[in-house]
Amino acid sequence: MIRSAVLAITNRSVTRKLVTDTSVGRSVAHRFVAGTELSEAIAVAETLNAEGMKVSLDYLGEHVTVVEEADSARDSYLECIEAIAEHGLDANISVKLTQLGMGLDNDAAAGNLDAIAASAAKHGTTVTVDMEESAHTETTVAMYEAAQKRHGNLGIAIQSYLHRSWSDVERLIPLGGHIRICKGAYVEPVEVAIQSGRDIDASFDALTELLMSTEAVKPAIATHDDDRIVPAIAASAERSAPWEFQMLYGVRRDRQAELVADGHDVRVYLPYGEAWYPYLTRRLAERPANLTFFARALVGK
Ligand code: FDA
Repeated sequence: MIRSAVLAITNRSVTRKLVTDTSVGRSVAHRFVAGTELSEAIAVAETLNAEGMKVSLDYLGEHVTVVEEADSARDSYLECIEAIAEHGLDANISVKLTQLGMGLDNDAAAGNLDAIAASAAKHGTTVTVDMEESAHTETTVAMYEAAQKRHGNLGIAIQSYLHRSWSDVERLIPLGGHIRICKGAYVEPVEVAIQSGRDIDASFDALTELLMSTEAVKPAIATHDDDRIVPAIAASAERSAPWEFQMLYGVRRDRQAELVADGHDVRVYLPYGEAWYPYLTRRLAERPANLTFFARALVGK
């Protein structure tokens, strides 16, 4: 309910303008976003690598309305992959298929994903397909399957709040790659998603166990929740193949460092680009305390 209310406020154009058109708004956004330029993201990624963390670079954007925008997003990703290779970064990329044209022109989106995966393979890195609203789940899974069968260097995010996720994971394990388990960041109806936090957590832990039990895929446990982190470590006890934690840039930085110090692989999801507002609103909706911090900065208190 809190999440819906926060998203209702932040989606209003007046709020959006207040945040995106003020330097204070933009500077607060910097807590969660590396910057608007690729060069800024590369500099932050270098620092994170030096601190022992892997990175997943996310060129922000979603739901493009014309095919040219999707092509331009694809080109930005190709540039990003080249920069990762050029700087010798321990990094991959995360993409949203609606940014590449899914929902507008699915063939174009599949072609864009294909070009990105091919370039990533050429430069020795991987691509994670983010999971968006449930209206896009089936197309996302199907597009991922086709690209993964062709290139073999992809992974996909699965949301523990969706009723369908267990069968999606069973469907995707034979394809290898990596699977990122997250709770899910969108407001979804009861028909498609579990509504109770406790049940979403139970689903998260069960999916984590399922992934840890197979060496066919690399599990990526994406959470800042200690009550999910501890069971994940326990579930990995018998595992010899690699797996990793993933956390968002700017969220629980102390915990990220602690996990690295304890010998765990940690990948930081690092967004950059001009289109940072929708990403920021989801982070605010996850933790209303961030909204207070944000509102205080905006009014200068
Ligand atoms: P939870 O929300 O319960 O938070 C646990 C604790 O973490 C909080 O008590 C707080 O201390 C801290 N915390 C969490 N969020 C915070 C924030 N924004 N600011 C400050 N502190 C915060 N979702 C999706 O639908 N599709 C996707 O593809 C992805 N991809 C993805 C990648 C990665 C690397 C991560 C970490 C997350 C995603 N998500 C996502 C988002 C995910 O679904 C979920 O909304 C958030 O991770 C918040 O859930 P937690 O598991 O962190 O737990």
